[in-house]
Amino acid sequence: MTTHHSPVVITIDGPTASGKGTVASRVADALGFALLDSGALYRLTAISAINAGIALTDEPALAHLAGSLEVNFTADKILLSGKDVTDTIRAEEVGVAASKIAVLPAVRAALVDLQHRFLRAPGLVADGRDMGTVIFPDALLKVFLTASVEARAERRYKQLIGKGFPANMGALLQDLSERDARDTQRALAPLKPAEGAHMLETSSMTIEAAVAQVLAWYREAVQIK
Ligand code: C5P
Repeated sequence: MTTHHSPVVITIDGPTASGKGTVASRVADALGFALLDSGALYRLTAISAINAGIALTDEPALAHLAGSLEVNFTADKILLSGKDVTDTIRAEEVGVAASKIAVLPAVRAALVDLQHRFLRAPGLVADGRDMGTVIFPDALLKVFLTASVEARAERRYKQLIGKGFPANMGALLQDLSERDARDTQRALAPLKPAEGAHMLETSSMTIEAAVAQVLAWYREAVQIK
């Protein structure tokens, strides 16, 4: 067994509304680890741009914005320049805007340091699209979570309605499919399983079962280490 004390990283990547956010936060709680919701950083950049009237194609201005985000993640809130945006960043149009700016290399580069700064002892659970492939390639455990587009649209529908946002199944199915296409086809850091990632298909799996599976893989990985 090697004895090094750098923080442990678990990456959970997957498409939008695959349930990875919920699974990641429960795994982090169970292990007493920190949590990085990297999608929130793209959403925060997108909402800042919309508020500042910056075009979602203006790469230099967006990268500058991403590099100077004033964000604060508390246990249950996300603050942007001191303002509570926990729920507003979950709006579907913010997610769509986030996936548009996420194709821009300068925006992705501007968010790398911020993401690395979430790493702390004893460990971090990082959720996103490129956590295992680009941001934390040396992670101890990598998980790639999937679910059918129908299952994901249903989950997102419930999530939006639960937060008081309007939602329409047909429009959501189309949004998710377009977002999947943008996330998987972009040139830089496309959504794809990292080498050695454990695949977890959750269409007909409860959150509890998904969390239990990730924790079981984690215990296995710690023993092998
Ligand atoms: O995960 P979430 O839906 O909040 O992410 C919003 C958008 O941000 C995604 O559709 C994706 O385009 C982008 N994203 C990314 N890389 C990450 C996390 C999110 O490109 N690591």
